[in-house]
Amino acid sequence: MGKMGSSSIHASGSSSMVSLSGSIIGVLLVLISNQMAVCNGGKTSTFVRKAEKATDMPLDSDVFRVPCGYNAPQQVHITQGDHTGKAVIVSWVTMDEPGSSKVLYWSKNSHHKMKAKGKHHTYKFYNYTSGYIHHCTIRGLEHDTKYYYMVGVGQTARKFWFVTPPEVGPDVPYTFGLIGDLGQSFDSNRTLTHYERNPHKAKTVLYVGDLSYADNYPNHDNVRWDTWGRFVERSTAYQPWIWTAGNHEIDFVPEIGETKPFKPFTNRYHVPYRASDSTAPFWYSIKRASAYIIVLASYSAYGKYTPQYVWLEQELPKVNRTETPWLIVLMHSPWYNSYNYHFMEGETMRVMFEPWFVQYKVDLVFAGHVHAYERSERVSNVAYNIVNGQCTPINDPSAPVYITIGDGGNVEGLANSMTEPQPQYSAYREASFGHAILDIKNRTHAHYSWHRNQDGYAAEADALWFYNRYWHPVDDSTGA
Ligand SMILES: *[C@@H]1O[C@H](CO)[C@@H](O)[C@H](O)[C@H]1NC(C)=O
Ligand SMILES: *[C@@H]1O[C@H](CO)[C@@H](O)[C@H](O)[C@H]1NC(C)=O
Ligand SMILES: *[C@@H]1O[C@H](CO)[C@@H](O)[C@H](O)[C@H]1NC(C)=O
Ligand SMILES: *[C@@H]1O[C@H](CO)[C@@H](O)[C@H](O)[C@H]1NC(C)=O
Ligand SMILES: [Fe+2]
Repeated sequence: MGKMGSSSIHASGSSSMVSLSGSIIGVLLVLISNQMAVCNGGKTSTFVRKAEKATDMPLDSDVFRVPCGYNAPQQVHITQGDHTGKAVIVSWVTMDEPGSSKVLYWSKNSHHKMKAKGKHHTYKFYNYTSGYIHHCTIRGLEHDTKYYYMVGVGQTARKFWFVTPPEVGPDVPYTFGLIGDLGQSFDSNRTLTHYERNPHKAKTVLYVGDLSYADNYPNHDNVRWDTWGRFVERSTAYQPWIWTAGNHEIDFVPEIGETKPFKPFTNRYHVPYRASDSTAPFWYSIKRASAYIIVLASYSAYGKYTPQYVWLEQELPKVNRTETPWLIVLMHSPWYNSYNYHFMEGETMRVMFEPWFVQYKVDLVFAGHVHAYERSERVSNVAYNIVNGQCTPINDPSAPVYITIGDGGNVEGLANSMTEPQPQYSAYREASFGHAILDIKNRTHAHYSWHRNQDGYAAEADALWFYNRYWHPVDDSTGA
């Protein structure tokens, strides 16, 4: 029997009449279709987004503007710099000359400026040469503290700020944003604006891969990596984005002699992989507040005996749910995807790792890649052993919910063709651009909401409470 998605649309000052009446019609349609559906799984949203081509913002767009001043730092971004949230990696690019790789920083309550020294380098990609890319790790920060920081010391200095997370602990509330496959189209700008204006005010973005889509340009024109860095700076300079590598980060182009995979991505975006004993920047983990976040690599080897496999096998037993109740996994290619795009691409990794996810009671798995939104039931498909024929996903209270959030709005457009009928495991799916918020309240409860770009900033198109699999493993599927 079909289930109703909990499309609780909260009318706020900014929600439009259109979305309200749309939701009423939507509820009516769901009520009608609920009586008819027998074999369908969950809800395929009745919201139909206007079909239009996504277009990249032109190079002279306001969001790509170069900051004023000689050698001014641009593309400023930060990410967590250690395993527990007491360090931050600050990165930026200077164009005219290397300039200083120093970061000056001071906490809100102190005027004593501290100094950290970073490094800079450049890279070439076909006939493109990058600016001077700086990375500097600031360590020994106090938890739950606002810091100001300054880059471009001695030339054109620019000042930003960030807030460190509270100390890791089981009941520490924390709010994450979820964005994937953003790109740099007009729709990408709408998604980022909706994320910024969402009244939930998330503090860190869990980014599920595919950043700039520079590889859609001739010779993977890396100028589009620079424009992307300037576009997202308005968020990435002030809050950490936790990076996952997607297929658009591979940049493997043997025709033009570019045979080192992930070259632009790894030069520009550093992650604290060594802090979790990883041997490559594509898979790693961090703790933040009450969450343990594991980032996996869909485009690095994960078969048995490979470095990623061995790392994950040793990593999962380290997660202490008394310390970090929420176990969250990020990856690019989804395992449970019922769209006609990238169908079953995640299947081989699912076969390798899904039994561990069920054994270790992963709460939530976020992926991108498919340019749409989908949320699964708690299901697993781990019984099959090649002779027993048990190859259908079943409801499983120990299994994660799988969420595809590849709907950032990049130039490739929406994935709007779905497999029919909707499989049982799929709880809600909709082909619209948007972002999501995971609002962790304590060790048992987290409120989750998905926000489509067509609605007002506060409207929740798909929303529910997730209950922690370790501390409160009761049914949290929609309609229950
Ligand atoms: C790189 O080569 C392409 C064509 O091969 C050309 O259009 C472009 O202007 C070149 N860029 C630079 C920076 O030389
Ligand atoms: C992008 O969004 C911002 C904030 O809403 C707006 O100020 C800006 O003009 C937009 N730029 C483009 C090119 O759409
Ligand atoms: C798990 O974390 C709790 C709380 O920090 C701590 O008391 C306990 O010793 C840890 N357990 C293990 C096995 O490390
Ligand atoms: C956890 O948060 C939920 C939602 O805010 C609340 O209802 C519940 O009482 C909280 N649990 C504890 C132990 O505080
Ligand atoms: Fe992708």
